[in-house]
Amino acid sequence: MTRANLIAVGASPLGETNLPGRDLFSKALAEAFEGLPDPADVVEGLYVGAQSERYENQIMQGTLMAEWAGLRNVPAERVEACAAAGALALKNAVRDVRAGVHDAVLACGVEKMTAGGTEGATNALGAAFERALEQRSGITAPATYALLARRYLHETDATERDFGRIAVKNHRNAAANPRAMFQQAVDIETVMDAPAVAPPLKLYDCAPVTDGAAAVVVANDEVAAELRSRPDTVHVAGVGSAANNLAVAERDLTFVEGANVAASTAYGDAGVDAADIDVAEVHDAFTVCEALLAEAAEFAPEGRGIETVEDPTDRSAGWTDVRINTSGGLKARGHPIGATGLLQAVEAYEQLTGRAGDRQVADADTALLINEGGVADAHTVAHVLTATDRGA
Ligand code: COA
Repeated sequence: MTRANLIAVGASPLGETNLPGRDLFSKALAEAFEGLPDPADVVEGLYVGAQSERYENQIMQGTLMAEWAGLRNVPAERVEACAAAGALALKNAVRDVRAGVHDAVLACGVEKMTAGGTEGATNALGAAFERALEQRSGITAPATYALLARRYLHETDATERDFGRIAVKNHRNAAANPRAMFQQAVDIETVMDAPAVAPPLKLYDCAPVTDGAAAVVVANDEVAAELRSRPDTVHVAGVGSAANNLAVAERDLTFVEGANVAASTAYGDAGVDAADIDVAEVHDAFTVCEALLAEAAEFAPEGRGIETVEDPTDRSAGWTDVRINTSGGLKARGHPIGATGLLQAVEAYEQLTGRAGDRQVADADTALLINEGGVADAHTVAHVLTATDRGA
């Protein structure tokens, strides 16, 4: 099998912008290709993660983004799995390179979420829920995750304040991330006093509605060696994915089985285990998700994921010393749905190539990404990335 590498990454500004999706994409692409030949001279195909056509009344996103990248007559496809669309684009690009189908592929994601305000985003996101049972009941993303949060509080010793501490940690991380939507730290009292969205979830327990795009160039060793010096590339060492059932009502609310399967598969593919992971970007669409995914990724025992908010030196024996969501996560870096999985890859790339500035984790050489679509593990994609001086 051919090895796949990330050789370049880029992202647009994140937040509420006056740019259409195609221009957000152009900004991400321009950053990724800085110092490289034109995209048409490098990549042989493209996958674009995009959640919904409702925001801009635009499908054919594969063709449109290929056109905007100056690519003609190449394979170009939109992929969708709600918020896991970005990682699905990456997974497909990696598969093509590993299989020798293409030497280099562009994985990108874009979402213009603010076009219809919070209400428009809530309606568009609602299409990811099971229609016969759950959409009919008027369920929303915050409401479904509130069910998970309530159950987690019921089954564990965790408190609403523990969820709040995840938000405080992620806003603190985002304050050191020039890419983040919210670059301000918040204190726990602000978080606890914020308005309720879907109790027990409050404003700071929720990811925001975000415009944004990201682009990642995936290439084989030959293209990587031709275009980049070794420290500027990152290996894709492991991939895993799993689709669980769609209706949250029929799932274990406090064990994200699909994420556990996806992460374990990615660990196995990479030949690592949870203790090897230095940095992880996990899908904290709501604060409770970070605790659940810390458990699913085996960073902490079941019911104790909340403790990964502590500095590694203050964690109980048996917990790994992983740093979670150094970017600020979906919570504070922002969550432009189709782009999110690739923004996770951008952060991991920066950590593993030593470009993460004030949020750099010393000696980080192995990263885990977990990107989810639908409620919790309706669809999960996991990747393990390693720095190039490992197992070269
Ligand atoms: N965290 C922190 N601050 C937030 C925020 C968030 N998630 N969302 C909005 N804000 C801030 C805004 O910056 C704004 O601040 P300002 O008054 O200082 O300018 C203020 O809160 C009001 O913003 P607004 O956009 O009007 O908020 P809203 O009440 O319409 O929406 C939520 C807030 C939480 C309901 C909305 O962001 C939401 O639906 N989030 C979940 C998105 C989602 O489901 N994603 C998919 C997950 S799978």
